[in-house]
Amino acid sequence: MTDPTDPVRLFIDHLEDSPTLMTLATVGEDGYPRTRTVNVNGVREDGGILFHTDTRSRKVRDIDAGGKASLTVLTADASRQVTVIGDVVRADEETERTVYAGQPRYLQLLAWLNDHGLAQEELEARRRRWAEFDRANPDLAQQDPPSTWAVLAVVPREYLFWVGDDDGPSHRVRCTRSGDGWVTEDLPG
Ligand SMILES: Cc1cc2nc3c(=O)[nH]c(=O)nc-3n(C[C@H](O)[C@H](O)[C@H](O)COP(=O)(O)O)c2cc1C
Repeated sequence: MTDPTDPVRLFIDHLEDSPTLMTLATVGEDGYPRTRTVNVNGVREDGGILFHTDTRSRKVRDIDAGGKASLTVLTADASRQVTVIGDVVRADEETERTVYAGQPRYLQLLAWLNDHGLAQEELEARRRRWAEFDRANPDLAQQDPPSTWAVLAVVPREYLFWVGDDDGPSHRVRCTRSGDGWVTEDLPG
């Protein structure tokens, strides 16, 4: 049985019943939060939740300015949810290379190709450039990632574990980082 006071482990268990996707929120310099879906690429020993993205993206601009993010992971059957707030740090180069090498080819192609310039092209031109690049670069997995590839870690400061209950009230447990440990509180759902 998982230790209920170890939220890092609880989060990893939660991912086993979830699509490998999370909703990631950042706050822009205009004060508005913005959300988007990203893949969960793993969880570090310190609890840091990894995702990959493009350094030219809006989310990276928001994170560079504020260093903070929030995320939500919902189980496939919507019976449980975890939300996290935390501080975002860039992963080390080895992690960035490992995550890149482990991506499906489609996502590696995206990392190389999907920039602002290509987005301005017509659909047929985008597909043509994609097919040409795909043919010309059979060994993307063996290469280093493009310089615009980044893997970031959201290091949790607070977890909120929500559990639904068909026979009773939904319930939450909040785990807040405190020194080397966690303070745990029960909350209504
Ligand atoms: C199912 C799904 C998975 C996605 N995975 C990623 C991802 O892992 N990394 C990423 O940067 N964008 C991913 N995206 C695209 C983002 O949702 C977003 O559109 C893009 O990163 C630009 O976001 P931004 O302009 O807010 O930075 C995904 C979108 C969907 C629908």
